[in-house]
Amino acid sequence: MLWAPYASLALLAPSIHALLRFSCSQLVIERLDPLVNPGEKQSPHVHQIIGGNAFNASMDPTISPSDEATCTTCTFAEDFSNYWTAVLFYRAKNGTFKRVPIKQNVGFESASGGMTVYYTPILQGKAKVTAFKKGFRMIVGNPSYRTEAEAKKFRQLTYTCLQNMNTRTGETLDFPKKACPAGIMVNVRFPTCWDGVNLDSPDHMAHVAYPSSGTFESGGPCPASHPVKLPQLFYEVIFDTTKFNDKSLWPTDGSQPFVWSFGDQTGYGNHGDYVFGWKGDALQKAMDSNCNINCPELKTQSIATGNKCAQAQKVKENLDGWLTELPGGMPVV
Ligand SMILES: *[C@@H]1O[C@H](CO)[C@@H](O)[C@H](O)[C@H]1NC(C)=O
Ligand SMILES: *[C@@H]1O[C@H](CO)[C@@H](O)[C@H](O)[C@H]1NC(C)=O
Repeated sequence: MLWAPYASLALLAPSIHALLRFSCSQLVIERLDPLVNPGEKQSPHVHQIIGGNAFNASMDPTISPSDEATCTTCTFAEDFSNYWTAVLFYRAKNGTFKRVPIKQNVGFESASGGMTVYYTPILQGKAKVTAFKKGFRMIVGNPSYRTEAEAKKFRQLTYTCLQNMNTRTGETLDFPKKACPAGIMVNVRFPTCWDGVNLDSPDHMAHVAYPSSGTFESGGPCPASHPVKLPQLFYEVIFDTTKFNDKSLWPTDGSQPFVWSFGDQTGYGNHGDYVFGWKGDALQKAMDSNCNINCPELKTQSIATGNKCAQAQKVKENLDGWLTELPGGMPVV
């Protein structure tokens, strides 16, 4: 196990504070990327996106998504942020690809997959956190990474091989090597320290950092270069790999059959993207109040309402048949 999951940490640390934990249904699966390829009609690899319906090929940082969006797929109705990851594919022995569907967490069942999103103000100590500001965006992880040494530069980008839907131990940096009875959960935890000045940076990472010692979970201090404590943003994405679990469907050389939409079959290129879009100071208020999961300060909507906030695909392409290549012709390397 690489990182203590929250459940066991709670036992060790009775001072555990509250957190926001909520469901956002799928908005669209789309080959667009307003952070890495702003304005481009098609990004190189396909993403699955949740959150507000202002998601677009370019998103002007001076305009809050909460001013442009008319709905959100998240159960906190004031959250018009966009959250996205790559898409997982199964590669058959004959070389064709099939998209792995996404399923929701227990209790968060939504029609079309989605993610569970966490904002944790603090787990140890008493410091206040500063919520993300209008125009803030960031990326964690690097799609070009293919080795463990590279993946370790990011502390908490992991996979959980779900024995059942409640498995929260045994996180790995690479794809699980054996079939997972209840699917594969991808865990995307962002750095928790900010330089306090820049809402973004050329690599979408340099304005944030990990604690200088220890971890967010252990209450580690932020480095002098990035002194402002942020909430820990964390996505859980559950890929329903179960219909590909039959041994006969796996490669005979002992490797595993899953590949990210950016051509990674190691899993070390795991990454996630974030565009902040909460209305006004709603997120700061929630962080200050230390509300726990149910947050009376925030407006909510049902999962069913969130499910209705779907966006039409702008880059029209078949994503759900047996594909002879990954969308965009992304090579597997
Ligand atoms: C996306 O951008 C295009 C081109 O600027 C614009 O026509 C369209 O209305 C935008 N869509 C949304 C949902 O913001
Ligand atoms: C490739 O393999 C998959 C899974 O076994 C199968 O469903 C599909 O029909 C095959 N495609 C071709 C072109 O043989």
